Amino acid sequence: MLTRRPPPFPRRRDEAIAAVVEQLKNGDWTRLEGAPELERELETFHGPGITGTKPTVFYLSSGTAALMAILLGHGIGPGDEVITTPYTWGATVSAVLAIGAIPVFADVDPISGLMRPETVEPLITPRTRGILCVHLFGHPCAAAELRRIADRRGILLFEDGSQAHGARLDGLRVGAFGHASAFSCMGLKLLAGTEGGYAVFHDPAAAERAMLYGRHPRGLPPDRAAVLGEAGLLDALQLGWRPCTIGAVLVRHALPHLDAENAARRRNGGRLRAALAGLDAVALHQDLPGAEGCDHLLSLVVHPERCGRTRNDIAARMNAAGAGNFHYIPVPIHRLKRLDPHGYDGPRVFWHDQLLRAGADYRAAECPGAEWRCPREITLGFNWTEDDPEAMGQLAAAIRHAVAA
Ligand SMILES: Cc1ncc(COP(=O)(O)O)c(C=O)c1O
Repeated sequence: MLTRRPPPFPRRRDEAIAAVVEQLKNGDWTRLEGAPELERELETFHGPGITGTKPTVFYLSSGTAALMAILLGHGIGPGDEVITTPYTWGATVSAVLAIGAIPVFADVDPISGLMRPETVEPLITPRTRGILCVHLFGHPCAAAELRRIADRRGILLFEDGSQAHGARLDGLRVGAFGHASAFSCMGLKLLAGTEGGYAVFHDPAAAERAMLYGRHPRGLPPDRAAVLGEAGLLDALQLGWRPCTIGAVLVRHALPHLDAENAARRRNGGRLRAALAGLDAVALHQDLPGAEGCDHLLSLVVHPERCGRTRNDIAARMNAAGAGNFHYIPVPIHRLKRLDPHGYDGPRVFWHDQLLRAGADYRAAECPGAEWRCPREITLGFNWTEDDPEAMGQLAAAIRHAVAA
């Protein structure tokens, strides 16, 4: 039975609470120009992109808004195809749908759940404008390889880093590989605010185009605002991506601690992997070569055929032993009922029209890795942001017990 508990997460540090109280007293609860101090800090944190470009960061109302912003900023729109993964939190895909584009699904590795670059290239058509990859569960996907494919084929790479702030690949933080990337800062993420998210652009022109859709122009230099105003580009047709300044204060105070917390998660994840070594009924993701991820959510794959227990039985036994868990992605996105306009008889879904017009038919999509993983997945929250070898030993014992005959 697990007796150890992770430290509170997100951390409620005194200085962050004091800064929030100060902000509440000031009445500075929303700012039309966003959160400039945090944005500059995030630009420093992320550093230059893979081609040496300086990032421009916008802190916005959510990770979903940030995803829409990077796509719209790069001119992706109705009818364009974006290759993405069916094994992710749905917002990755709904952002593509929301801007009128067509998601096309590449497959994932069945153990890690990360996009497999070799399944991407055959899906590229003349309508493909970009690849949107996801660094899931704290682990960088093969973004460098995806960027090479994108460059070779003349399309864009976007990264969804909502579950992997600060994780690195080839020494660079995720977010450096794409032409632009999006991160969520909702309260359960590695970099947690209240609700919020941010977009990282490596092309200032794309950043400005995105801002015209959903950020108040007050943050613009006055001379640029005058030019855009003159051209009729500054108006009230806004998508309302303004962030909450209270959340921004929390993110600012969390940022200096992120690397240390990620390092502790990584060390604890390593201890758990070591303690589970040789247990063939359970598989855990190992970082790709060159990757330095961290376990954000800890997602196991169980092999019912090797232990004679069903996934649900194992999950219930882990729960009973104090290893709380959930089924994070029970159905791959391309198999969700509401994505399929054919034979659907529920309430109206706006994206059906665009999918039918584009001739998208996900019944034919083949993603065996994702389909294999979904019914075998057991996911745990993993907020062990301090070294705790004893807790990892207890967790491993709970998992071993759950799959034992
Ligand atoms: C992978 C991924 N993408 C996108 C999002 C959307 O972020 P938000 O909930 O802040 O809109 C989330 C989290 O919710 C996520 O986990």
